[in-house]
Amino acid sequence: MTATTNPRVRFTDLHPAQTDLAQAVLSGLARTPKRIEPKFFYDAQGSELFETICAQPEYYPPDAEREILETHSAEIAAALGSGCVLIEPGAGSAAKVRLFLDQLQPSAYVPLDISGDFLLQAAHDLAEDFPWLDIHAACIDFAHSLRLPEQLPETHKVAFFPGSSLGNFEPADALTFLQEVYTAVGPGGGLLIGIDIPKDQAILNAAYNDAAGVTAAFNKNLLTRIRNELDSDIDPEQFDHLAFYNTELNRIEMHLKSRRAQHVQINNQSFHFAPGETIHTECSYKYAPEPFQNMARQAGFQPRHTWLDRRGLFSVHYCSAPE
Ligand code: AVI
Repeated sequence: MTATTNPRVRFTDLHPAQTDLAQAVLSGLARTPKRIEPKFFYDAQGSELFETICAQPEYYPPDAEREILETHSAEIAAALGSGCVLIEPGAGSAAKVRLFLDQLQPSAYVPLDISGDFLLQAAHDLAEDFPWLDIHAACIDFAHSLRLPEQLPETHKVAFFPGSSLGNFEPADALTFLQEVYTAVGPGGGLLIGIDIPKDQAILNAAYNDAAGVTAAFNKNLLTRIRNELDSDIDPEQFDHLAFYNTELNRIEMHLKSRRAQHVQINNQSFHFAPGETIHTECSYKYAPEPFQNMARQAGFQPRHTWLDRRGLFSVHYCSAPE
């Protein structure tokens, strides 16, 4: 554990080994089709860019989810039960939890994130605004392990997983993740989760192709990371952002599309790109309420409440883990 300047903020660094990016890129680019997991978007720059995506008018999920959390904060706090240990995998800037912390009064808040510096800053900002709150932050790759920091209060645990981040898992992995959450919270615990809903393709395509080009910059930041952190001559300018809704699979797909035939060197290995060939960088699956509830049941949870925003774009579910 690392000491921090605020005694109410504890920070545990469980960060994955540095070799992670190199391994993922070398094995992902050797595959056909080429693919790199979306978790590698989130270095400090990628996390900043994601925050900027969330402020774009086309990217509706944050506003829709905020509306739900604000409108139903009392009901949500009652469902979760005050005094819980609230765990947030992928907490980022920890913005959404602020909407119901006062109502909920958890005994501790446990933000988990892969981007350690960003997380620590977010934890300090939160501690300033909620001086009564105990924060146990941990830098962790939650898609890999849901290991929790030690010395948490012994009371019921609730996982908070907003933003439809579950959609970034393949469906089989999403189920495995929910099963891991179920194990982590234990009997008597719960899950409050935001899930994006399938809708008009035009709305979805616009959300991942914002006019300001922030999502494109977020996608291409992966190439900047490869160039800066690995031994590589890759040129982000030689790739285009590509994002579209796949109606058969109910998912947005993001790719980086090669502008021309090119060879790229990474850590002494050479990779060939045909013109128009892509690296698949992200899927964002959308689930209507019933398919999500079925998946939650399969993971052992009991769906209890589902709330939608006024426009019916987004959902928040509360599921309990039976005693
Ligand atoms: C974090 N995640 C839920 C976002 C999404 O919508 O799938 C990531 C994102 N990718 C592009 N825009 C936003």
